[in-house]
Amino acid sequence: MKNTTKGPSKGPSKPHTARPKTAKPKAPKAKGSGMVAGQVGSAQRQLKVRVKHAHKRSVSSNRWLERHINDPYVAASKRDGFRSRAAYKLIEIDDKYRVLKRGHRVIDLGAAPGGWAQIAAERVGAAESGSNAGQVVAIDYLQFDPIPGVVIYELDFLDPTAPEKLKSHLRDGRADVVLSDMAAPTTGHTRTDHIRIMGLAEAAIEFACEVLEPGGAFISKVFQGGTEGELLNLLKQHFAVVRHVKPPASRAESAELYVIATGFRVTKR
Ligand SMILES: C[S@@+](CC[C@H](N)C(=O)[O-])C[C@H]1O[C@@H](n2cnc3c(N)ncnc32)[C@H](O)[C@@H]1O
Repeated sequence: MKNTTKGPSKGPSKPHTARPKTAKPKAPKAKGSGMVAGQVGSAQRQLKVRVKHAHKRSVSSNRWLERHINDPYVAASKRDGFRSRAAYKLIEIDDKYRVLKRGHRVIDLGAAPGGWAQIAAERVGAAESGSNAGQVVAIDYLQFDPIPGVVIYELDFLDPTAPEKLKSHLRDGRADVVLSDMAAPTTGHTRTDHIRIMGLAEAAIEFACEVLEPGGAFISKVFQGGTEGELLNLLKQHFAVVRHVKPPASRAESAELYVIATGFRVTKR
């Protein structure tokens, strides 16, 4: 397989060094209303924009476009300077469970276009200098623009070289938090989509068990019923607390769910 590793601008072994100021993450607010995330939807619904059916657009593309235009999280992400509406999922999860702390070393799997990496970098202080600075190492096979303080790999996480490459940028080769929002493009076939997303979640769990510091945390996108069977057993075996959450920013009609596992216990590496 072609090695598409794209480390920071000067090559894969050097961390990104640009340090411009990042936007401070805020919960999405309907402008001027002082409302918070969960309340955004109802106000925006009254302002719904209808998209005319264009000749070359399919009904489903039209529906997607209409939903996108009317999505308050999309508007908020533009206003707040985030790369994706997904940023609010991590904000909502972390505001509630306080996983990301200043100085933490974070791995972000499936990071493009970079919303989660922006939030993680801000919360751990990845763009700061000094001993208190955190670290964020992100990977995606899709290219995305640099983020201050974040090391970016343009590479398939399932590539056998990926784990070592990611670890090589972390202090002591260990992470405090592993995030995974990885999702393969959906096929529309629910069963296939479920199997693919759970396969990625399984690979992420295995990597988390290999790289996490004792006490570390793992957050991953899962699907429908959440982690079940062997995956859930694996998580319970390695983490003190395992929860499933559906943050308000995750669309109600989407089968996606997040697993949050905290208190990593090392059994054997
Ligand atoms: C929902 S998006 C992530 C959004 C991101 N968390 C954000 O906040 O901007 C899912 C990402 O997973 C990536 N992905 C899926 N499978 C992957 C793999 N095997 N290796 C690397 N990235 C992968 C996709 O390319 C896609 O960019």
